[in-house]
Amino acid sequence: MTARIIDGKAIASKLRARVADEVARVKRDHGLMPGLAVVLVGNDPASEIYVRSKHTQTQAAGMASFEHRLPADVAQADLLALIGKLNRDANVHGILVQLPLPKSIHTETIINAVDPAKDVDGLHPNNAGRLASGFAALSPCTPLGCIILTRSVHASLEGMNAIVIGRSNLVGRPLLQLLLNENATVTIAHSRSRDLPKLTARADLVYAAVGKPELVRGSWIKPGATVIDVGMNRLPAADGKTRPVGDVAFIEALDVAGAITPVPGGVGQMTVACLLVNTLRAACAIAGLPKPAV
Ligand code: GUN
Repeated sequence: MTARIIDGKAIASKLRARVADEVARVKRDHGLMPGLAVVLVGNDPASEIYVRSKHTQTQAAGMASFEHRLPADVAQADLLALIGKLNRDANVHGILVQLPLPKSIHTETIINAVDPAKDVDGLHPNNAGRLASGFAALSPCTPLGCIILTRSVHASLEGMNAIVIGRSNLVGRPLLQLLLNENATVTIAHSRSRDLPKLTARADLVYAAVGKPELVRGSWIKPGATVIDVGMNRLPAADGKTRPVGDVAFIEALDVAGAITPVPGGVGQMTVACLLVNTLRAACAIAGLPKPAV
């Protein structure tokens, strides 16, 4: 068997186009210009790339993009003051503070300071708690992207066995909740789980989000399973450079899985597209408009 490759790039591109259409509609019909503020502290090279991509894609969707760059040694009080200003700014509907933050900053305090109505990362405890309670919430972007990719293969996830490997607040935990909302049966595994290969072998849906290059082997995967690889790691390449790899041994998995996301070109593309969706949804909710059609 050779797995179908799930084309995250194409799916993300279609989603961005739908967001752009809806942005044009709310501008035209309601005079609403959705705006996203991204805050980057320090100059971590990977974060720089993400932030640049967020800026470009936000503008391409017709939304306002506000970028705030602060030095790595910024005082926490100054970062909190900026977040307070963005919370009060009527032109800003979404606020994203790029993670990870420098060690001198208490991440939890920063996450708690963002107005939950503008929390397009879905990390504020109000949103995380609402999601866990099955209430409407702004949900983290990467897990949202994972669900959309899975739904490109399966019209319904009801009754399917899913395993989420990884329990981070950004991916594993919210993904567990979103899968529950889809009526899947979910196992969440992590570094202390026993017999990960056996747990994985039961799953119709495999989500790998641990940040360990090629941890999930082809031999672990149930034939025909759908595999969503959230990992973004680098391994040494033959030419002395490095190559991007996910948390799944892709070539091995290709022979066993029914469908699989590549790295790059899978989940990564979806995160920013879902950030645009969340910003549009937040803008409509703040303006008292009905939920947009995306
Ligand atoms: N760093 C890596 N991914 C993310 C994300 O989805 N949100 C934030 N805020 N930081 C990140």
